Amino acid sequence: APQEVKYIGKPGEVSFAKGLEGVIVAESVKSYVDGIAGRLIYHGIPIEVLAEKSTFEETAFLLLYDKLPTEDELDVYKMRLRQYREIPDEVYDFISRAGRRYNFHPMSVLRTAISMLAAFDDSAEEDTMIAHEREAIKLTSRIATVVAAIGRARKGLPPVHPRPDLSHAANFLYMLFGEEPDPFYARVMDVILILHADHECNASTFTVRAITSTLSDMYSAVVGGIAALKGPLHGGANEEVMHMLHEIGEVENAEAWVLRALARKKKIPGFGHRVYKTYDPRAHILKQYALEVTRRAGTEKWLRMAEVIERVMIERLGQKGIQPNVDFYSGIVMASMGIETALFTPIFAVGRIAGWVAHALEQRKDNRIYRPRFFYVGPEHMEYIPIEERG
Ligand code: ACO
Repeated sequence: APQEVKYIGKPGEVSFAKGLEGVIVAESVKSYVDGIAGRLIYHGIPIEVLAEKSTFEETAFLLLYDKLPTEDELDVYKMRLRQYREIPDEVYDFISRAGRRYNFHPMSVLRTAISMLAAFDDSAEEDTMIAHEREAIKLTSRIATVVAAIGRARKGLPPVHPRPDLSHAANFLYMLFGEEPDPFYARVMDVILILHADHECNASTFTVRAITSTLSDMYSAVVGGIAALKGPLHGGANEEVMHMLHEIGEVENAEAWVLRALARKKKIPGFGHRVYKTYDPRAHILKQYALEVTRRAGTEKWLRMAEVIERVMIERLGQKGIQPNVDFYSGIVMASMGIETALFTPIFAVGRIAGWVAHALEQRKDNRIYRPRFFYVGPEHMEYIPIEERG
C-alpha cells in the first residue's frame, strides 16, 4: 500500500531518482537492456541474432505478439501491413505544403501528419482490443509512407505511392527515392529498423505508455512518442552526430575538435546512455554496416573521423561509462545511403513505432493510470495581493 508521505518541503530535503533513473514503471515482456554486459534482447532474442536473421516485419510481430510468427502468421501480418500503406490525399497535401512552403522541422511535420491520419480514420476511436491491434498495425505501416513523403516534399518532389510487392524497408526506400532500391541497401534499412524497434523504458516509450494509461487512443500515444523522440537527448542525437562531422570537416581536425568540446564541457552527440555503461550493442552492428556502406558510397572519410572521435572519447571518458550509442554510427550509414540528415530522426520513428504500439497494447492489458507525485518545494502559504497593490 502507498505510504503516507508529506509531499511538501524544502529543496533537497528528500532524495528522489532524478530523471526517473532506475525507477521500475511496469512489468514488460518486450525487451531488456543489460547496461553492464552491453546486451539487448527483444523477448529473449539477442539483437545480434535479429539483425542477422530477422526482418523488420518479423521483429515487429515478435514485439507485438510476444512470439515468433509461423510462416502463415507472418504472411497475414505482412499482408495487413501492405494493405494499410496508402494514406489520404489530404495528408499528402499537408506534407507537401509544409515541406515546400514552410520548411518545418520534419519531426513536426511527422507529428502533425500522424495526428491528421486519426482525423481521417473512422475507426480511430473504436475502443476494443481488436481495434487497438488494428490501429497498431496500421500506424506501423503508414508512418513509413508519411516519412518518405516528407523526404520527397523537402526536395520539392511529389510523393511516390507505396508498392504492395516490396518489403517494408524496400518499399520505404522506393517511396523515398522513386526507384526500387539495391537489395543490399534495402537490407541495411531493414536492419536499421530492427535495431531501433524497441529499447525498454526509453523516454518516448514511457511517454506512449503514460498516454495509453489514460486510455487515450493509439494515434494520440504515437503522436506523444514522436514528440518525445524529437529531442536531442533522445532520437535527435543522430542528426547532431552528422552536424558534428560536417563541422569537423577533416579527419585530422577530429581529435583537437573533440578535446576542445570536452574542455568546454560540451556533450558529444552519439555518446553516453542512461542504461548502457559499455558499448551499445546496436552501435557495434551499425559500425560493421558502416564499413561496407561507406566503402560503396566513397564516404570512408566520415567513418575515419568517427573512429578518431570514438578513440578519443573512450580514452577520456570510457572509464566513466561514456561509450558510443546507437546514434553514433546510424547517421553515417544513412547519409552514405543518400538520406538527408533531417530525415534521420523520422526514420528512427519508423523503426521505434513497432515498440511503441507493442508497449501501448501491453499497457492496456493490465492498466493503471500513471500518476506519480512531485515533491512540492514552493511556499505553503502566500497571500493573494490584489494586482493594483503589487507595485
Ligand atoms: N559527452 C560527454 N560527456 C558526457 C556525455 C557525452 N555524450 N554523456 C554524458 N556525459 C557525462 C556528463 O557530462 C556527466 O558528467 P558529470 O558527472 O561530470 O556531470 C555524466 O557523463 C553523466 O551524464 P548525464 O547527462 O547525467 O547522463 P544521463 O543518463 O542523464 O543522460 C544521455 C544520458 C542523455 C544519453 C547523455 O549521455 C547525453 O546527453 N548524450 C548525448 C546525446 C545522445 O547521444 N543521445 C542519444 C541517446 S540514445 C537514444 O536516445 C537512442
